[in-house]
Amino acid sequence: MKLRYFSHSACQITTNSGLKILIDPFLDNNPTSPVKSADVDADFIVLTHAHGDHIGDSFAIAKRCNSKFIAVFELANYIESKGFNAHPMHIGGSRAFEFGKLKFTMAMHGTVTPEGSYAGLAAGVILSIDGKNLYHTGDTGLFYDMKLIGEMNPIDYMLLPIGDNFTMGIDDAVKAVELANPKCAIPIHYNTFPVIESDPMEFKKRLEKLNRKCIVLNFGQEIEL
Ligand code: NI
Ligand code: MN
Repeated sequence: MKLRYFSHSACQITTNSGLKILIDPFLDNNPTSPVKSADVDADFIVLTHAHGDHIGDSFAIAKRCNSKFIAVFELANYIESKGFNAHPMHIGGSRAFEFGKLKFTMAMHGTVTPEGSYAGLAAGVILSIDGKNLYHTGDTGLFYDMKLIGEMNPIDYMLLPIGDNFTMGIDDAVKAVELANPKCAIPIHYNTFPVIESDPMEFKKRLEKLNRKCIVLNFGQEIEL
């Protein structure tokens, strides 16, 4: 599979069979994304929670691409109320889709729709695609159950926030990697706004001191996983 990182929490996975999955596609109003919503395609859109910097341009993309959403039940209901197709799931649940398996995990964070309506719980997500497990933690603080998540779902790639203020900062993110024990960490949710300024190279250095692998992706960069 390929992973393209747009910046913030937004990324796109392309499976070996060519299916495209977007996670939290916040692009048009995202000052750091070199890619705008009109330039991406999605068969599926996975949302970790309903905050505006995660729903982003989901509806415009889904309208153009006829994408199917996957989200926790309450957020899926909201998406369906807007006339889109959403598969509802919830934390702890997994399901096989055309692209592979998806499981929602807990995340320590809030969630509410842009209109202020109830959106259930914020989540993280584990995608099992083309023989690899990718854990996108969503927005979250550090929690000890990351250890359990890593034990139950051996993680190849862990995408986790380092921007502080709304989520983990570097200190807690380093501990999160030690707990979940992925083969490789990828920092997200930093430098989008002044309030979440953080140095991804500092994060990488800290992990390398612990003999852990970290890849810092440029905004817009695509890599083969
Ligand atoms: Ni959030
Ligand atoms: Mn966020």
